[in-house]
Amino acid sequence: MSVRLDAMGNLLGFYPGIESNAPRLLLGSHLDTVPNAGAFDGILGVVIAVTLLEALDGRRLPFAIEVVGFSEEEGVRFGVPFLGSRALVGRVDEELLQARDAQGVSVRKAIEDFGLNTMEIPQARIAGDYLGYIEFHIEQGPVLEELGKPLAAVDSIAGQSRLEFTFLGRSNHAGTTPMHLRHDALAAAAEWIVAVERTALNATGLVASVGRIEAKPGASNVVCGEARLTLDVRHSSDETRINAVENFIGQAKHIAQRRGITVEWKARLDQRAVPMDARLVAEIERAIAVTGCAPHRMMSGAGHDAMIMAEKIPSAMIFLRTPGGISHDPAESVAVEDVEKAIECGLHLLDQLASLSSAFSSGVRERMGLA
Ligand code: GLV
Ligand code: MN
Ligand code: MN
Repeated sequence: MSVRLDAMGNLLGFYPGIESNAPRLLLGSHLDTVPNAGAFDGILGVVIAVTLLEALDGRRLPFAIEVVGFSEEEGVRFGVPFLGSRALVGRVDEELLQARDAQGVSVRKAIEDFGLNTMEIPQARIAGDYLGYIEFHIEQGPVLEELGKPLAAVDSIAGQSRLEFTFLGRSNHAGTTPMHLRHDALAAAAEWIVAVERTALNATGLVASVGRIEAKPGASNVVCGEARLTLDVRHSSDETRINAVENFIGQAKHIAQRRGITVEWKARLDQRAVPMDARLVAEIERAIAVTGCAPHRMMSGAGHDAMIMAEKIPSAMIFLRTPGGISHDPAESVAVEDVEKAIECGLHLLDQLASLSSAFSSGVRERMGLA
């Protein structure tokens, strides 16, 4: 492969097709991860993509393959996920470049400090003829393990909202301020966190998480004056998700008002649920079956670069069973035999796509919906 780094920090490897003007198939996943992460979320999909090319052993296909290792998919540092894939679909705007991390460093500054030129981000956008994007990823949940199946085709990805909340109270002396005269921002935040959990517990399919909290000034003998929190809300129905976010904002306002403090919030992400490409999903199911596994279709509760790529090109995913359903944790793992099956499935899939597109007549591609 010839390898390059684009201006958003995505690492791309190009493996040519039979003809120099052959269309491209994108294969990959993300390179970044979360704090205290496991070893497979994201990177496994990049390694599988590279392994597939290794297994081709120089054999050329009627399409070129571009392996992509996306930068910053998780959204941990700047509160906004999918930075790398957004560059590929041309959706990096000034607001995104100005998002800041906890130290106040902007996306623009981080990219430039890394030695890349943000003026070149528009060139990262994919252009020309793409067959689609395919991503291998661990399921990160318990479904496949429970079903006793190593692989699944992902048919949709749940939408997600991410917000930041700040409860602003009054910091004061913890020894001298009577309980009824306090304006404790952390106590308000705690009440709200429990309200969020209770609401999500009572709504089918809704998941809502406060994953991070920062209390200021952050001393044991000071009543907290400011509490900053993150909120992550997901559901397969965008309407349910958006209503839930409104509800959580309403509860935060209510709690703050009752306690005589204020609350501010900022939306960081409103990503709609995304269906995967029906034809690619069907091909993946066929490849899973040829590998000797019982096919299964499922929704992804986790977000993936595939939901961004789907804005521009047909996209689909293959999930690998995740032992114990554990992810975003050092205990995350995957069975070697399942990885073996995934690679085998990937090779069948490449062959299927190659035979479907071998003549590359526009008629064939149109029928595949890839024209
Ligand atoms: C990505 O891991 C996500 O948060 O869904
Ligand atoms: Mn992740
Ligand atoms: Mn991931």
